[in-house]
Amino acid sequence: MEPVTSPNGGSVQGRQALHERFGSRLYVNPELTRKAVSYQGNRGVPGLRWMKYKEGFSRALVERLIDEHEPEAVLDPFAGIGTTPLVAAGRGRSATGIEIMPVGVLAGNGIAQAANGVSRDALEAAGSGLIARVESDEPAPSEFAFPHVSITEAAFPGPTEAAIAKARQFISDIEDHAIRTLLTLACMTILEDVSYTRKDGQYLRWDHRSGRALRARVDKGPILSFQHALGARLLEMVQDVDVLKREYGGAYPEFMTGSCLELMRELPDARFDMVITSPPYANRYDYTRTYALELAWLGFDQDGFADLRQQMLSATVENKTKLAWLRQVYGENPGLPAKAVRMYQGQEALHEVLAILREHAGELGNRHVIRLLEGYFLEMAIVVAELGRVTRPGGTVIMVNDNVQYHGEEAPVDLILSDFAEQSGFVCEAIWMLPRGKGNSSQQMRRFGRREIRKCVYRWVRR
Ligand SMILES: C[S@@+](CC[C@H](N)C(=O)[O-])C[C@H]1O[C@@H](n2cnc3c(N)ncnc32)[C@H](O)[C@@H]1O
Repeated sequence: MEPVTSPNGGSVQGRQALHERFGSRLYVNPELTRKAVSYQGNRGVPGLRWMKYKEGFSRALVERLIDEHEPEAVLDPFAGIGTTPLVAAGRGRSATGIEIMPVGVLAGNGIAQAANGVSRDALEAAGSGLIARVESDEPAPSEFAFPHVSITEAAFPGPTEAAIAKARQFISDIEDHAIRTLLTLACMTILEDVSYTRKDGQYLRWDHRSGRALRARVDKGPILSFQHALGARLLEMVQDVDVLKREYGGAYPEFMTGSCLELMRELPDARFDMVITSPPYANRYDYTRTYALELAWLGFDQDGFADLRQQMLSATVENKTKLAWLRQVYGENPGLPAKAVRMYQGQEALHEVLAILREHAGELGNRHVIRLLEGYFLEMAIVVAELGRVTRPGGTVIMVNDNVQYHGEEAPVDLILSDFAEQSGFVCEAIWMLPRGKGNSSQQMRRFGRREIRKCVYRWVRR
């Protein structure tokens, strides 16, 4: 096992102790490729290929786990576009997904509706109507213009803005809920392709043709027209409908929209015998920025963006503590959060990292990474404690997550969360490492040398 070191000369005792405790259960699983734990595995997969949700994991991973464990009831509290609930329901299991990002919720619902109701002919006819409207010469009234917020201004070429407004007008007249969902989804999923932007991990990168003042010059190459991209997406959707009926049809997963920190409370004790999930990583990625176009399309204004970001699991430097809100959600009676707060407060390895970062706060690129880590681990303590409550004895939790490092100091997310799990009624059976971890940024590499950070899948079994 690699030695635990602190490049800042701080204590490593807490992290060393955790390594010793979990060391024999921490090993490379050669079957876990990056493709399996990322959206790349869904290229070409019916339904899931409609939305390039970079945060997703693959259908193949979920299928393998479900076939191996044969659970009755499956939960994903961070469901994204619904990979876990869709695959589980398709295999005849009771399936529940909780997701806070309306972008993911729309995609999951759209796929489920295509699998369980909408006919191929009806979708094809509605799609042809939409294309005809977009290609018509008649401009749409100004009320249907793309509802920009400051971070999306100038995202589209002029003709695309006009085409978008026509599409929005056409969709607003559709009464059939499922068809409306699918046409909205078709348009929302092509926004990046027809824009001057490109999603790039933490940021939205801008092409120089947008006319925005830019630090780095990005050239996206040819940008598709709205009609062209929409036609291609609708064709894909029509082609997939019948396959989806075979693969995911027959049962509709339960999608709960909102924060799992709030909604998991509504789930009964011991309801699930399997959880397959991947929370946001503690890596500063701000989903409300990378999905700005899609959220604006769905009607989010500036305040809506800020509220959503704050409600999401703390993973950005903008997130503020949710402690007061959590106390409100859970009420005065100190039940679960008190236990989670204790797990969080007693986690020595975590506080070792936080203490070093606080000592070096003046040297950090952004000192709010400290607040990020505090919020992330407190909130994950609540999620893990809730998982302990809703998972049946003998049930399994599979969690995909990356470790992170700030200022050269590694936070062993895998070991810390597994410690929370073992205090919440689970036995951590394995922490599978991907054969290749994640390299550090070039800036950190220059300062602290090359360090690979573990990307892992944890397997916790309920006692
Ligand atoms: C790593 S992604 C999981 C993607 C999913 N496995 C899939 O295949 O699409 C994490 C998800 O958690 C969601 N999320 C963040 N905070 C949340 C919260 N408080 N409650 C529920 N979902 C949340 C994000 O919007 C994101 O979709």
